[in-house]
Amino acid sequence: MSLNSGLEGVIAAETILSEVDGAAGRLILRGHQLQDVAGHHSLEWLIGTLWRDVVPVSSHDQEPLRAALGQARCTAFDTIIPLLPQAARLAPTEALRLLLAGVPDDRPDLPLHLVATVAVGLAAVLRTRAGAEPVPPDAELGHAADLLRMIRGQTPSGTEVADLETYLITATDHGLNASTFTARVVASTRAGLGSAVTAALCALKGPLHGGAPGPVIDMLDAIGTPENAEAWLDAALARGDRLMGFGHRIYRVTDPRSDVVKRAVGSLGNAAGRIRFAEHIEQAALTVLARRKPSRSLQTNLEFYTALLLEALEIPRDAFTGVFAAARVVGWIAHAQEQAATQRLIRPQSRYVGPLAEAA
Ligand code: ACO
Repeated sequence: MSLNSGLEGVIAAETILSEVDGAAGRLILRGHQLQDVAGHHSLEWLIGTLWRDVVPVSSHDQEPLRAALGQARCTAFDTIIPLLPQAARLAPTEALRLLLAGVPDDRPDLPLHLVATVAVGLAAVLRTRAGAEPVPPDAELGHAADLLRMIRGQTPSGTEVADLETYLITATDHGLNASTFTARVVASTRAGLGSAVTAALCALKGPLHGGAPGPVIDMLDAIGTPENAEAWLDAALARGDRLMGFGHRIYRVTDPRSDVVKRAVGSLGNAAGRIRFAEHIEQAALTVLARRKPSRSLQTNLEFYTALLLEALEIPRDAFTGVFAAARVVGWIAHAQEQAATQRLIRPQSRYVGPLAEAA
């Protein structure tokens, strides 16, 4: 058997949840094009749509699901309070890892509780480490609005909520990405949904996956001025560094999620200057990548404009991955349930290439 170390092109699951078409730059979410969902439907609509016939909740309809998720945020808030002093001493993604690890796998309301724990936990950790009181959830609000309100401690504008909701929808599910694959592997062992989601978060954390958007802002700051862009980027590639926010395992054209998120950032008045600067850096990066890596089409991915959007929403850059998790947890849960239903253990093979000990 030949070795495929990155499992590139390997089909390891059948799913009704999402389809990533890398050549056309298309993302389908349960039969719907991303562009027809983002900005047109609520996050709760998408959760119900993705989870229908896959994840058991009391209702998959938008309004009852919104109410149940609001209630789940209130329950999750009470559950995480005792863990907050310890969690707030960790980086936000590590804090979420701790909070998720504390969720028992046999909770009856587990799916919504996990979604709620990520949002409520992230907000409470950010407030606690800033020396402020955690803001309790408001069960009447939509999930995106409440997440932003709990993080910032004040009511966000309608545009800000709409833009965060667009981002969360965009990041909810994306085929068999590394964290979703992790969730499916763990679910295939019958370890339980909480374990699958906790493991998936650990995979999301890495800078080649969901850890990229914070370093995008670091890169923009390090470049500093438009004039500095090409020389800085060229030197980074010469050192063998990767440019954060560019390249993708599947997309060979611009990530369709990037266009959706870029439009959302554009609607935030406070980001105009930053967007112009970022567009300049994006063009310089694409030029330098095409020159240095001519054999590979490396385009802008979701994380580049995500970083700008979350920065404009005043979310601390080390919490960007946590916001990503607040969306992707929905997809992890659906994939874990879908995998568990197959009752098939995921267990590939390795090839031993070490030496053999001499026989005694
Ligand atoms: N910057 C510079 N070079 C890159 C980049 C990049 N961003 N991405 C790929 N390359 C280069 C590699 O160095 C390699 O070059 P070589 O053939 O000369 O050695 C070539 O392109 C192919 O790279 P692979 O590692 O085989 O590509 P892979 O499909 O595994 O990479 C990945 C996908 C990990 C996303 C990569 O593009 C990357 O590291 N990007 C930067 C991190 C990032 O933005 N991650 C977020 C991805 S989106 C998401 O997870 C939601």
